[in-house]
Amino acid sequence: MKQRATFNTKLGLVMASVGSAVGLGNIWRFPCEAGENGGGAFLIVYILCVMVFGLVVMLAEFFIGRASQKDSVGAFKTLAPNTMWKIVGYNGVIAAFFILGFYSVVSGWTLEYIYQSVTGGLKTDTVEQLAENFGSFTSDIFRPLLWIFIFTLITHFVVLSGVKKGIERASKLMMPLLFVILIILCIRSVMLPNAIEGLEFLFKPDFDKIDSKVILSALGQAFFSVSVGMGCMITYGSYFNKSINMPGTAVSVVTLDTLVAILAGIVIFPAVTSFGISPSQGPKLVFITLPNIFQQMPFGNLWSFIFFLLLTIAALTSIISIHEVITAYLHDQYKMSRRKAATIVSLSGFTLCIVCSLSFGILSDFKIFGLTTFELFDYVTAKLMLPLGGMFICIFTGWFIDKKVLKAELTNNGTIKFALFSAFVFLLKFIVPIVISLVFINELGMF
Ligand code: PFF
Repeated sequence: MKQRATFNTKLGLVMASVGSAVGLGNIWRFPCEAGENGGGAFLIVYILCVMVFGLVVMLAEFFIGRASQKDSVGAFKTLAPNTMWKIVGYNGVIAAFFILGFYSVVSGWTLEYIYQSVTGGLKTDTVEQLAENFGSFTSDIFRPLLWIFIFTLITHFVVLSGVKKGIERASKLMMPLLFVILIILCIRSVMLPNAIEGLEFLFKPDFDKIDSKVILSALGQAFFSVSVGMGCMITYGSYFNKSINMPGTAVSVVTLDTLVAILAGIVIFPAVTSFGISPSQGPKLVFITLPNIFQQMPFGNLWSFIFFLLLTIAALTSIISIHEVITAYLHDQYKMSRRKAATIVSLSGFTLCIVCSLSFGILSDFKIFGLTTFELFDYVTAKLMLPLGGMFICIFTGWFIDKKVLKAELTNNGTIKFALFSAFVFLLKFIVPIVISLVFINELGMF
């Protein structure tokens, strides 16, 4: 049998997983969700969800991937042959497809903002003007589609160049750079007038605001942000070699990801209060606050260019991992060549993007359950498919897998320590499934 591709170096593999985790979810979606769900209250629940639930599901996914050496559907077929568990894998593949649909749209926007930085198009005086620019750009028919198309092409070629050359190399280089620039922006942002109010909004929790909507949003954001619940980490886990310390890797990925989200919050919210805009602006929040910060800095366009370039790259390393979930599935399950599999994913993904992109313009009145297609894909994946997927991944690993097998895999046959193994199993079996079920039951209004 052909040996499965593996990541080259330990750093490369951590970076590829961090690359998947850190993306628009941290810098675009996190401030948007935090802004709409009360700031500090959201942050506390989010950190809890990500540090406990995100971590547990990630480790379970790493286990499933490396133990089976298969794609997200094949993994369940291998570890639990002739059972219904493969449905959890299918849930992941479908979720990946839906995420591809709206994520690439926002990624396309970042390319437009790079272009605008170079051509000086962001040089406006007021937030209102920036908001208007954003509105007229996103509601246009062709311009966003052109950028989405270019972004899809880039993704396609990185995925085609394979695990080692494409994914690993791109991640290793760009992630540290993004981190540095975020820190510079944080410093700039907290020095803005009125910054303190923004920091208070983000860090001072108002516990009365915590309700089931906030909890579900935080849970969904946690899973989305660390790329779990849909088999992405199963797919990456299948590329890990047998000497990788999986618990350590999971802790690093989750910690770095959370750090980036908090840094993004420290950049955005002081700017929000300083410029006197409402934090609950939704998807456009980042695209109007950030250019405004840049305009007030010396060499504003240069900063803006570097930032949006890095944001594009962060989006790229994430989207590659989403693309990879479906490509690996088609490649493994239908014995397609990687080229053919990737082409099918890119073409069908782009078709879905067209619908999502147009929902900001001519299709804005086309709503399902009161949501535009863009909002619907975001909602269904982050708030339904990923939490449910994560819950079943935990139930599967906690109840179905022999604990000796689980422990042997996670400790590399006893060669590394995993002191919290029993606690991990307890969380897998009871806490995560019970809490997620309660959140859903509550959300359905059954309490
Ligand atoms: N975690 C990515 C982000 O925060 O942008 C998005 C994502 C990637 C979600 C991969 C799900 C996934 F499988």
